[in-house]
Amino acid sequence: MERTLIAHLPQAIGQKVKIQGFLHTLRDQKTMQFLILRDRSGMVQVAFYKKADPALAEQISRLTNESVLTITGTVVENPIVKLGGLEVQLETLQVESLAEAPLPLDPTAEVLPSLDYRLDWRFLDMRREPVTAFFEIQTTLEMAFREYWLQHGFIEIHSPKLMGSASESGAELFEVQYFDTKAYLAQSPQFYKQMAMAAGFERVFEIGPVFRADPSFTSRHMTEFTGLDMEMSYIESHEDVMRFLENMLHYVYQRVAEKHAADIETHFGVQIEAPSVPFPRIPMAEAVEILKREGYTLPPEKKGDIDPGGERTLAQYVRREFNHDFFFLTDWPWTVRPFYHMRHPERPDLTRSFDLIAKGTEIVTGAQREHRYPILREQALEKGLSLEPIQFYLDFFRYGCPPHGGFGLGLSRLMMVMLNLPNIREAVFLFRGPNRLHP
Ligand code: 4AD
Ligand code: MG
Repeated sequence: MERTLIAHLPQAIGQKVKIQGFLHTLRDQKTMQFLILRDRSGMVQVAFYKKADPALAEQISRLTNESVLTITGTVVENPIVKLGGLEVQLETLQVESLAEAPLPLDPTAEVLPSLDYRLDWRFLDMRREPVTAFFEIQTTLEMAFREYWLQHGFIEIHSPKLMGSASESGAELFEVQYFDTKAYLAQSPQFYKQMAMAAGFERVFEIGPVFRADPSFTSRHMTEFTGLDMEMSYIESHEDVMRFLENMLHYVYQRVAEKHAADIETHFGVQIEAPSVPFPRIPMAEAVEILKREGYTLPPEKKGDIDPGGERTLAQYVRREFNHDFFFLTDWPWTVRPFYHMRHPERPDLTRSFDLIAKGTEIVTGAQREHRYPILREQALEKGLSLEPIQFYLDFFRYGCPPHGGFGLGLSRLMMVMLNLPNIREAVFLFRGPNRLHP
């Protein structure tokens, strides 16, 4: 017999079905036994009249919560049953996997243990409905990004994560033994997506792993995360990249809302709405002035940069003045940006770059890139880089390269912001941090 999903049982009233799932709870009464069975699609009550088969009743009594069962039975309407007004009358039972008791983490418990403990038993934590819903939402979100890119003529690439030299700053680099030499884990697909521009692909995107040897213990940093990166040619400035990004996010939010608005409200208490475009844009110089007026003092050691507290203060200002959750922080000082960002021709102290701040958290960094070989070379030298390890990258710009720009977006950062999650550890399948490599 083919398996019926629990969500499809209302279409099977009066029929014999096979259902499979976890034993959510068991109510063992004098004459009746009620098993609540849970699969990915929902829960159903299964009823058994003990006198019908005392040996089977005995076996049911011994079942432990979260055991995996295959049950056959007849679906009957029963208006007093809270779970959908129907139940399955048990005919046969097969125990596929008996769960040990007690459970280290009970997915049905009302009060959850600490986040750290939940991560130790993540597979049990994930049996909870909101967690499953999270990954369904994320799947739609990634699909929507892909859809949008494909609708706009992008090519998907998969660049290597083992590299012979640093891909960003040289800091936060994981070193791995690579036969008799050293390799580094990619801190971003930056160099390779730019290589695709030199190759004439014009528009590329990549969804892939990013590694950062960042020792910080914040609620927004991981040592491994999924990046959504894109790069596009023949732009006039970073403004073209920002425009593309805000329209894409508008589309992505719409697609997620169409499919999951009700679930997002139920499980996360968020009313999802596509952000209006254009997003406000605030040049860094102006942001510094706004922060002064708002009474926020930037830490002196971060000269030219804006710290997380500053980002949150600006986000409050944007919410108040523009009624918006998103804003672009643009035209960052050259001193705090990487060597490959293009500078403003009339203001070489500033770059054609931006961050996208959402609800006070940075979710994207992007820029127009410097595509002119002699200038790029000079900029690398000015940042004190040695050219030899990055010469392979600099070569991309020696034989004709279109003007281009792009961005990198952190998947978990976006999910966290979209669903109002307090910690990135809940916004990823398995968190990786300085002291977490298991499970
Ligand atoms: O801001 P980042 O470091 O920028 C780059 O990687 C550039 N190559 C992007 C570009 O095209 N110019 O990283 C991009 C995004 C951040 O905005 C953030 O959303 C996310 O990646 N991110 C992290 N997410 C989780 N944990 C971390 N440690 C992260 N570091 C960056
Ligand atoms: Mg950044």
